[in-house]
Amino acid sequence: MGLHYDTNGITVLLFLTTNSEAPLRMQVQRSHPSKKDSWVENRKIYAKKGALLIMQGRKVLHDSEPTVNEQKLSVVYNYYERHDTYRHEDFDNFVYYGRPPKTLGDNARGEDRP
Ligand SMILES: [Fe+2]
Repeated sequence: MGLHYDTNGITVLLFLTTNSEAPLRMQVQRSHPSKKDSWVENRKIYAKKGALLIMQGRKVLHDSEPTVNEQKLSVVYNYYERHDTYRHEDFDNFVYYGRPPKTLGDNARGEDRP
């Protein structure tokens, strides 16, 4: 899966393996009252067996670098609140069946077209 925001508010990752490759890449929006402008902090988090990572999936643009030589296993918990269970209509087809979202059309497959 490429760079994305999660549909749920809170995402928890339980890492089952320790890896020296394929870190989780995160673009975290930062701000501080003492600073005029906000900024983006780029982070790379490497999986460590037994570690739990909690993030606001809707606010953090993220993906994982691909594995090359190692196997990476993690359990993903996506927490929705009862009053807020929004999922884009194409989301499950995209994630589970690889069908491009209707809003992106055929070019979502990355094919070169004139
Ligand atoms: Fe995600």
